[in-house]
Amino acid sequence: MNKKLIDFQQHGDSRGQLVAIEESVDVPFEIKRVYFMYDTTPNVRRGYHAHKDLKQILFCVHGSCKVHLDNGYETEEILLDKPYEGLYIENDIWREMYDFSQDAVLMVLASSHYNEADYIRDYDQFLGYKGIKKV
Ligand code: TYD
Repeated sequence: MNKKLIDFQQHGDSRGQLVAIEESVDVPFEIKRVYFMYDTTPNVRRGYHAHKDLKQILFCVHGSCKVHLDNGYETEEILLDKPYEGLYIENDIWREMYDFSQDAVLMVLASSHYNEADYIRDYDQFLGYKGIKKV
């Protein structure tokens, strides 16, 4: 699976914690976009897509949520509950986000601007795109 959990350095002292993220140093792509989700409705599951090219790093900077990853062959469930932990997801991976705590803030760093043409929103099309299933 093309994913990696990255522990970013915490610059903690008696005042609290601080995490810095630098393009091309801590993140293996140019950061073209940042977006975040919050006030997520209880029991919502969202995502349900893969990206043809986009690479992303997901941080649950407050609260917790889970991420379901699927590369067409195997699946994985990942708990994000540490603000300094980033989940790097390469392209061609189906993702769903769920079990958001009421206070969850899920922040995403992305390698390109929003482009609907980069999305695969149908699971069978995803398997077809990967050459796993004929559609
Ligand atoms: P959507 O793709 O449905 O979110 P999810 O990650 O749960 O699949 O995005 C929700 C709305 O926000 C949709 O109307 C598209 C818009 N949007 C942007 O305008 N820019 C963005 O960077 C993103 C991620 C979404």
